[in-house]
Amino acid sequence: MKKLIYLDYAATTPVSKEVFDFMKKYFIKDYGNPSSLHLLGQKALKAVDFSRNKIKEIINADYFREIIFTSGATESNNLAIKGLAFYYFYRFKIKPHIVSSSIEHPSILEVLKDLEKLGLIEYTLVKPEKNGIIDIDKILNSIKENTILITLHYVNSEIGTIQKVKELGERIKEINKNSDIEIIFHTDAAQAPLTEDISIKNLNVDMMTLSSHKIYGPKGIACLYKKEKIILERLISGSEQEFELRAGTENVPLIVGFSKALEIAYINREKNKEYLKEIRDYFINRLIEENIKFEINGDLENSTPKILNLYFPQKTSQEILIYLDSKGIMVSPGMACKARALSPSYIIEELYPNTDRAEKSIRFSFGLETKKKDLDYVVKALKKFLT
Ligand SMILES: Cc1ncc(COP(=O)(O)O)c(C=O)c1O
Repeated sequence: MKKLIYLDYAATTPVSKEVFDFMKKYFIKDYGNPSSLHLLGQKALKAVDFSRNKIKEIINADYFREIIFTSGATESNNLAIKGLAFYYFYRFKIKPHIVSSSIEHPSILEVLKDLEKLGLIEYTLVKPEKNGIIDIDKILNSIKENTILITLHYVNSEIGTIQKVKELGERIKEINKNSDIEIIFHTDAAQAPLTEDISIKNLNVDMMTLSSHKIYGPKGIACLYKKEKIILERLISGSEQEFELRAGTENVPLIVGFSKALEIAYINREKNKEYLKEIRDYFINRLIEENIKFEINGDLENSTPKILNLYFPQKTSQEILIYLDSKGIMVSPGMACKARALSPSYIIEELYPNTDRAEKSIRFSFGLETKKKDLDYVVKALKKFLT
């Protein structure tokens, strides 16, 4: 049988056995609707409450109702930005201004574009430095009188760089002390929990997006943390679920699975970081030993070790991907939603404009199951193809 090696964990992870086992009974035994008043309904509600509370504790939030379950990080990002923009536009009749970066996930960038197209907001995107880090002074210098929101991702999904969220949050707090309009600070932390601290108090954020399927939980479930006092217009109207912010019957098994996955990620994050760093560094060293020409995109010192983005000058990423795929090795040129079109990464284009670097870069993302012998196999394949 063909050897299969998955190195695309930033696109998605499998559901861990522990999480899967934990979820199971909510599909087939305790399957009630949390809004029902009978025994099964109450059991389901208890499971949702328990999960919400667990997430609240993990991220260090003050109130249970600050956690809003959604269908994915995409929806959480939409709710954070549109919810706030709609509120300001309708309530205060002002066209608010939002600051973000040009290397956000499309679930931020496209939301901003859509809102601008509708005439509801204006926005500024700060470009990254060569190493993939956003200069927070450039963000702060973009603030205008009508700025209501700054949204900056925590861990970049393509190059793994960790942004200075904590420092930016501190600076925004200082600015807010002397200002009439409070600037809300949101971070998309979808790629963070396996290796990084996600305490909202340490990060100084007002809203935070988390996702389940990047951390060994099921797909189709995520949450938005939002500080109690922040008012968002809802995007999905209907019944009263999620404190009237997101209608629809709660998906109890997925909610339970997500909170379990987050708990496991939280408990193990230091251990995960150590293991993934060992794996990543091993891979880099093996490439060097085999004299394979490559350069690193991003900034290894300030990155999650689960993501490594490499530029191979000899061949296009498309050629490399097709070859690796024929050897059973699954990697990607960038984020999964964009990768289907095999288009060059816009994130690498932002780092290296007017070069062919984006067309020749590959994202390797490692998982807790990745073994050194898998990486030996990948290096052997790359050597054969590239040298
Ligand atoms: C940083 C970031 N934000 C948002 C998303 C969107 O997540 P989902 O597709 O689960 O909605 C992803 C997924 O790749 C991501 O990496």
